[in-house]
Amino acid sequence: MSEVLRTKYAAEIAETPAGTEVVIGGWVSRSRDMGGVIFFDLRDPSGLIQVVLDPESIPVGADLKMEYCVKVTGVVQARPEGTQNADLETGLVEVAADAVEVLSESETLPFMIDDRLNVDELIRLKYRYLDFRRPSMAANLKARAKATAAMRRTLDEMSFMEVETPTLIASTPEGARDMLVPSRLQQGSFYALPQSPQIFKQLLMIGGIDRYFQFARCYRDEDFRSDRQLEFTQLDIEGSFWDEDAVMETIEAAIAAAVGAVKDFTPSLPFEKMTWSESMERFGSDKPDLRFGMEISDLSSIFSGTEFKGFSGAIAEGGSVRGINVGARDFSRSALDKLIDQAKALGAKGLVWAFCEDGGWRSPVAKFLSDEEKTAVLEQCGAVEGDLLLMVAGPTTNALQVLGQLRVDLGQPDGHDDLRFVWITRFPVFDVHEDGTLSPAHHPFTQPESIDQMINDPEHAFARAYDLVLNGSELGSGSVRIHDPKVQEQVFDTLGISPEERESRFGWFLEALRYGTPPHAGFAVGVDRLLAILVGASSIRDVIPFPKTQRGLDPLSGSPSLVTDTQMQELGLDLRPEVRAALAQDDDTAGV
Ligand code: AMO
Repeated sequence: MSEVLRTKYAAEIAETPAGTEVVIGGWVSRSRDMGGVIFFDLRDPSGLIQVVLDPESIPVGADLKMEYCVKVTGVVQARPEGTQNADLETGLVEVAADAVEVLSESETLPFMIDDRLNVDELIRLKYRYLDFRRPSMAANLKARAKATAAMRRTLDEMSFMEVETPTLIASTPEGARDMLVPSRLQQGSFYALPQSPQIFKQLLMIGGIDRYFQFARCYRDEDFRSDRQLEFTQLDIEGSFWDEDAVMETIEAAIAAAVGAVKDFTPSLPFEKMTWSESMERFGSDKPDLRFGMEISDLSSIFSGTEFKGFSGAIAEGGSVRGINVGARDFSRSALDKLIDQAKALGAKGLVWAFCEDGGWRSPVAKFLSDEEKTAVLEQCGAVEGDLLLMVAGPTTNALQVLGQLRVDLGQPDGHDDLRFVWITRFPVFDVHEDGTLSPAHHPFTQPESIDQMINDPEHAFARAYDLVLNGSELGSGSVRIHDPKVQEQVFDTLGISPEERESRFGWFLEALRYGTPPHAGFAVGVDRLLAILVGASSIRDVIPFPKTQRGLDPLSGSPSLVTDTQMQELGLDLRPEVRAALAQDDDTAGV
């Protein structure tokens, strides 16, 4: 018979009657030698339990060190009065050890397994396996597993089919830089890792799969931010004979299940909806954080006849004056100057501030404005005594963006964990760049609301595209797709993609569209972002088991790494001389 390694988890001991013999296994967390008796906390995946032992009868006790992996056989007993620990779930009980067996010794750890200590993230990533022993990281991984299981269950119940799509593919146009993998058999050719399964899920619809989902690993070689990684996970879905409402209903069901699996409540459905235009107008952003107000007001009509050049000039040039009410806040002169610098860095010509004081304005520009103008602004912004107003005059898009950013910086609620979901709908079809060129605001497979408008007035055309935003973060996006190959060609025409280029890049997909494509629509949720918000992490790295650093490195395994000359030869590759020279120099300095 094999040896019994465990009969109970630590957390279960709280419910186990005194006198029960148990076998528990885990790691030595704190240990205290109280002269004659040793106490230590044993940590296992369920929590901590205190073990008490007499070193005289159990000699191993003397050698117990932090993070040794041990097995304890003993008897459950109530802790004596006065030694109970109310902070611990198992704080009323302990295990009196009859035997302690060291299963595996541990070297001194690079950091203490203690959530209260602030450990440098690089060290945590280098020793990620030890980081998982910290209760907070273990809880994050557990939350992730529970959330993905709940979403999978929900979609399965709704008759969605989980289908895997390839990860060595030809490039797909999601707008980021591809990660490439050289082919050994077709030297000089490269696979791209998918930025998303977009084209493949559309092929599944053409193939009659009807309802698809996948937890898809996606790769994008883009700049890092706290909510971006080179490699991340989407919950990707697509359905045929579908429209926006059906997509939203499905995603809401999946997300509600994920929230319910992690938190002790489910969000109320359906989520709020707002058009992109309204969101830009009210919040200066397509990812509005609705946990707080501070909405942007259009003050242009108040200042239409103003003498103040800073405002009248902007209005005369077709722009506007917009403002936000920051509320009653203490701002020193230098803090206000910093806000002005920030607004300028964001592209504004300037920023006007005004405090509501004694029913009037305290502001550097107060003397240039009439009493009627000042009163009207206070009224429109709902300002009361002590409130600070910030105003930007200029091209409307810029004024909205600048105030939208200041709103987010100044309005972030402190640590309250409301979940405010909102669908943003009717995005523009195209982003218009300064040089007048267009690029798809979503991806080029998105259905425009009106083909005529897309052709004749592309800059103002709207798409059947929608994003889901949670607490100011873009959680996911999707659209109704183009299923008519002629419309797809027209979009490529408008984007200025030549027939040759579209044929070489997407010819295979355009051909597929010509075989009776059903109307279809879909969505992708950023799973890492969802989890980060649900567990309250400040970066998605905290909910990804093995993430990369901000510089794209894995300090644990050392990736990305150089490969041998033989591997390069097999792939038909060589490094450019300047890269070789730089590497040689790095080698020289490495030893210095
Ligand atoms: P999109 O490009 O908007 O849409 O991506 C969908 C969601 O994926 C998440 N995401 C990321 N998460 C972490 N790191 C990244 N680098 C990263 N990039 C994106 C975001 C984002 O909202 N194929 C379309 C979806 C569709 O139309 O069905 C797509 O990929 O949460």
